[in-house]
Amino acid sequence: MSGHTIEPVRIGVCGLGRAFMLSMPGFETDPRIAITAGCGPRAESRAAFQQRFPTTRTYESVEALCTDPDVEVVYVATPHQSHAEHVLCAARAGKHVVVEKPMAVSLQDARRMIEATTQAGVALIVGPSHSFDEPVRLAAETLSRGEFGRLRMINAVNYTDFLYRPRRPEELVTRLGGGVVFSQGAHQIDVVRRLAMSRAVSVQALTGDWDPNRRTEGAYLALLRFEDGVIASLSYSGYAHFDTDEWMDWIGELGHAKSPETYGHARRLLAQARTPEDEARLKLERTLGSPREAPAPRFHEHFGPVIASAERADLRLSPEGLWVYADDARSFRPTIGMTVPRVGLNDAIVDAVRHGRPVIQNGAWGLATLEICHAILESAASGQAVELQHQ
Ligand SMILES: NC(=O)c1ccc[n+]([C@@H]2O[C@H](COP(=O)([O-])OP(=O)(O)OC[C@H]3O[C@@H](n4cnc5c(N)ncnc54)[C@H](O)[C@@H]3O)[C@@H](O)[C@H]2O)c1
Repeated sequence: MSGHTIEPVRIGVCGLGRAFMLSMPGFETDPRIAITAGCGPRAESRAAFQQRFPTTRTYESVEALCTDPDVEVVYVATPHQSHAEHVLCAARAGKHVVVEKPMAVSLQDARRMIEATTQAGVALIVGPSHSFDEPVRLAAETLSRGEFGRLRMINAVNYTDFLYRPRRPEELVTRLGGGVVFSQGAHQIDVVRRLAMSRAVSVQALTGDWDPNRRTEGAYLALLRFEDGVIASLSYSGYAHFDTDEWMDWIGELGHAKSPETYGHARRLLAQARTPEDEARLKLERTLGSPREAPAPRFHEHFGPVIASAERADLRLSPEGLWVYADDARSFRPTIGMTVPRVGLNDAIVDAVRHGRPVIQNGAWGLATLEICHAILESAASGQAVELQHQ
């Protein structure tokens, strides 16, 4: 994080749901960012936003938020399938944009978003994905210096309860962007691409869909090949049994200490929902205004175990830094301390908006990641490797 003397970047939040709830602590604690306005269709969420940020304005529609002259950046945190419409609206109004991952469901929408923001001359940042996490940044910088020779292989593994967290109905329909490939693959692919920093050329993958009550992909295995010869394996299960946080010193994805005693929590909570409407209501309890708001995280976020193998060392990411297993010794390199959650996203926003600097996770980056999500599904369906075109 650079100096504090710059004028805070003024953000208008579009979509006051779960995603905003997770990015909010980072925006609130960073003096370089000012939450200026919010919009959402639900009166309850607007009221909760107004109560939390009394000096801001709230709007019912994205169009109205985009007319607010105080808003410099629109953070689009609405469901995947609305991202394109909302990004186009912001671009037309000349606002910079941060759009949640995945940037869209279709590649065509992603291309329209890039075109609109390019034409408007505004920044488009896709995230926050876990590629913004501090340990990922530290590992990427270490690898790019070539200190341990060339990167050769990446292994990324994650076992979570993703499929059993309360969902809106469309989050369980693959063609609408549901399932783990779009929502979670986007994180893991971003992490792997950030470390590889090379063009991905092909994907071979298989997917798992084995709960008849939640008929979408809950798991996948994917092999990626990069132009410079790096190979990567990505595996994910959201079936709420084993939890890889056990291998991350019981620090959860969002940077909170986690107790093994909470085993089975997601399934028990979900059992309270009898209908899809009940389940959508349960999801609302994880958003702004809920009495169940999580405390501020103490650690950096992570996306499960990741090991990057260079010629002369394996680098293992942890929520507090990087374990280096070199030829002669094993050592630990800490990241910067955790003061502002998701600080990497804020750095990117300030870089783009205040300094006009390029950001790694821009529209073209988001499109490339989305193409790999589609390639995972296509490869699993056809049994063939898929050659990539938009990297
Ligand atoms: N980066 C992360 O850690 C993270 C975490 C969760 C979700 N997400 C992403 O965020 C997006 C939203 O997912 P979510 O889980 O927050 O869903 P959610 O349902 O909790 O929140 C979506 C919000 O958008 C609002 N909304 C819907 N239509 C709108 C409109 N036309 N204008 C303004 N607001 C509108 C809804 O009322 C709701 O409050 C998805 O793309 C998801 O992948 C990212």
